[in-house]
Amino acid sequence: MKNPVVTGGAGFIGSSVVRALLDGGAERVTVLDNLQSGYEKNLSDVADRVDLHIADIRDYDSIAPLIAGAPKVFHLAAIPSVPRSISEPVPSHTTNIDGTFNVLRAAAEGGAGRVVYAASSSAYGDTEVLPKTEDMLPMPKSPYAAQKLMGEYYASVFASCFGLTTTSLRFFNVFGPRQDPSSPYSGVLSLFMRCLLERRPPTIFGDGEQSRDFTFVQDVAELCIKASNAPAEVVSGNMYNAGNGGRVTLNETWRILCEIEGVSIEPVYGPPRAGDVKDSQGDTARAVRDLGHAPRFSFEEGLRLTLEWYRANS
Ligand code: UD1
Repeated sequence: MKNPVVTGGAGFIGSSVVRALLDGGAERVTVLDNLQSGYEKNLSDVADRVDLHIADIRDYDSIAPLIAGAPKVFHLAAIPSVPRSISEPVPSHTTNIDGTFNVLRAAAEGGAGRVVYAASSSAYGDTEVLPKTEDMLPMPKSPYAAQKLMGEYYASVFASCFGLTTTSLRFFNVFGPRQDPSSPYSGVLSLFMRCLLERRPPTIFGDGEQSRDFTFVQDVAELCIKASNAPAEVVSGNMYNAGNGGRVTLNETWRILCEIEGVSIEPVYGPPRAGDVKDSQGDTARAVRDLGHAPRFSFEEGLRLTLEWYRANS
């Protein structure tokens, strides 16, 4: 029996999925990563149980033999970021759409057991109603959102046309240890944490009243494993919200962080960002029902754990 495969397994979320697999009893995990935004150091403490292959999902021939026969494939490799997909649309398109097609094709042709795909809450766009439910019409506002939605459609079609078991999880603004704050495209919480620890004001794009369903990475990783264990006849071809179910504004988030740290720093406000969704909050009822989703970390617990990680690792 081959080992489970995690594409993007040296990245922020992927490396947490690798740990969740090992904690759940996997002997070894195969990781595919081109190390563009992932790092070997993200796997350093589990390196003796990981087979890391430096491979790019845009190159079908290099990934197909690694995926063939895998009991489970967790497809997390992607070029994330809404603004990056606007400033660099070509690599984001080829990785997120062509790369996802390659992973699904390799899994189907290679007889892999199933694929869990990292979709994105950005696919919803601005909905009139919150929380967002899976039956709402997607209204992507950015290339990234459109690409991630296409991946979902492909995952579903690979289930219906090629008999591959697939499940898509729409991630909602995941945060936690190992999120890389070093790029302007980094997730907002990693940037906020770095500012906080360096006692600098963060830049908030817009008025800061936009809200997000921030979800702690360990909860997301555990949900990925649950999705991979759920009965195929229930979950195959489906998409589920992988959020926490709450919603907090950026202004409130910065205020909570300052309170935890016992400081008072006024943010700097900049122009709103193109492609930005105003409010995001996922209804988790379907994921609870079909996948046994049970987030364990409150927003504040997640913030505290993450802050401690940055303090120890910066
Ligand atoms: C979007 C998706 C998310 C996906 C992510 C991948 C939505 C609702 N969410 O996240 O599921 O995982 O893309 O990259 O579409 N901001 C600041 N200052 C900063 C950086 C960001 O104010 O320095 C603001 C942004 O304008 C945005 C919010 O913070 O309003 C969150 O931004 P970011 O962390 O980049 O994630 P989303 O684009 O919301």
